[in-house]
Amino acid sequence: MKALEDENCNMVGLQGLGGTGKTLMALKVSENLEGSHFSKVIFLVVSKPPDFKNIQREIVRQLDLKSKDEKEEELLEGIWSQITSMEEKLLIILDDMWEEFDLKKKLGIPSISQHKDCSVLITTCNINICQNMGCQKIIQLEKLNEEDALNLFHANASMNNSNISKKLV
Ligand SMILES: Nc1ncnc2c1ncn2[C@@H]1O[C@H](COP(=O)(O)OP(=O)(O)OP(=O)(O)O)[C@@H](O)[C@H]1O
Ligand SMILES: [Mg+2]
Repeated sequence: MKALEDENCNMVGLQGLGGTGKTLMALKVSENLEGSHFSKVIFLVVSKPPDFKNIQREIVRQLDLKSKDEKEEELLEGIWSQITSMEEKLLIILDDMWEEFDLKKKLGIPSISQHKDCSVLITTCNINICQNMGCQKIIQLEKLNEEDALNLFHANASMNNSNISKKLV
């Protein structure tokens, strides 16, 4: 959240192995920053292979634009003009990215030089994607240490007896 609140940073990467909690953290960031630092947050699941037309439709829906079954160029144009004419701060979260792509060409999202009030948070397992997408700040989620992992397991399995932990270890 600090990285996203930094005025000099509009592209942030959240990287970590599968299951380390990237999606949950991105959702929490969205909950916390929508209505405070950002007027609006758009949460998009990219996944692989990315279905760009579907993601464009989702942006259109979340931006409350007209949702006719338009051609891809019209969707991109609509998204671009809506975002660049917004006066409030917008955060776009792209969850679960597996490949880099051009945000403007594929999704109609402007870069900082084109519109300063639009920030992007990407989550990915692959640090190269953060670097290649031009993230100014990369947050890396580490695995839990053994003790915390065991405590989390116990909490979820409703086990809190230390004898059980010895047996498991
Ligand atoms: N801080 C946390 N405390 C407890 N459970 C958590 C925490 N963070 C994530 N989880 C749980 O761990 C699981 C994996 O989290 P999440 O889906 O966010 O990981 P991910 O890094 O996005 O994984 P993937 O790379 O596969 O998309 C989920 O069931 C989530 O609810
Ligand atoms: Mg995820």
